[in-house]
Amino acid sequence: MDNFVLQNGVEIPSIGLGTWENRDEKSVIETISAAIEIGYRHIDTASVYANEKFIGKALKNAGVDRHKLFITSKVWNTERGYAKTMRAFEQTLNDLQTDYLDLYLVHWPASPSKYENWAELNAETWHALEDLYKMQKVRSIGVSNFWIHHLEPLLKIANIIPMVNQIEYHPGYRQNYVVDYCKAHNMLVEAWSPLGRGKMFSVPELVQMAAKYGVTVAQLCVKWCLQNGVLPLPKSTKPARLKENADVDGFTISAADMQVINSLQMESSSGQFPDEIDF
Ligand code: A2P
Repeated sequence: MDNFVLQNGVEIPSIGLGTWENRDEKSVIETISAAIEIGYRHIDTASVYANEKFIGKALKNAGVDRHKLFITSKVWNTERGYAKTMRAFEQTLNDLQTDYLDLYLVHWPASPSKYENWAELNAETWHALEDLYKMQKVRSIGVSNFWIHHLEPLLKIANIIPMVNQIEYHPGYRQNYVVDYCKAHNMLVEAWSPLGRGKMFSVPELVQMAAKYGVTVAQLCVKWCLQNGVLPLPKSTKPARLKENADVDGFTISAADMQVINSLQMESSSGQFPDEIDF
């Protein structure tokens, strides 16, 4: 797998393994072992996924040099603020059995619909990430689920611009305005649920196009992300699917077909909008 290069020069493997909802110890350990065997080196987790301890165990068992792995985690919504973020980070390191992270993200912005002091709260959390970066406890820092109205005030107070914004992104929910803003500010966009949690598999245009290229819809979605300069984080617990989702080098989506996907008229988001979530 190739790499994307972040604004600070850190290389990040171009397809990562999403691990949301995989919280059973046996399943996590089997999935991570299979993924490593297949060639995944980029694992995306979060404290709220409640699987960091199992991922830590699986990675220890896998016997791959830590420096060859790229591990991302995220600070949860109840841990916002400087001191709490610092504590949450140490817990995450402990659970993952590592002494540094490759990428640490603010999982969701504090939003204006919920907090009067939302911008200050995001600023405090961000300053904690900046300090962790300066202390070299994390190789890169970023945010997740931030829309432009969350990013703008953050950029005003930031000493370090977020290197990544991880958002929901798939053919059924493209969030072009966020992607364009991030690209203009040199932030790599990562796609959570790049397969639309499976909803893309029955979109007729994608089914037909995948058949034309002799690939699966999952592979088409992964490749579409990559060709749009977005880093996909497909999730699976099944070895055959892990392999399939990472096996996308053998075809290129034509410019005309990229345009077809980029103009699909559908709204198929998860409905988890940063100003509306109740968690
Ligand atoms: P499973 O874990 O049983 O493979 P997303 O990454 O967009 O959130 O989608 C994840 C969902 O898609 C999961 O339900 C996962 O189920 C399923 N999935 C992942 N990869 C594939 C694939 N290649 N073919 C079919 N289903 C897949």
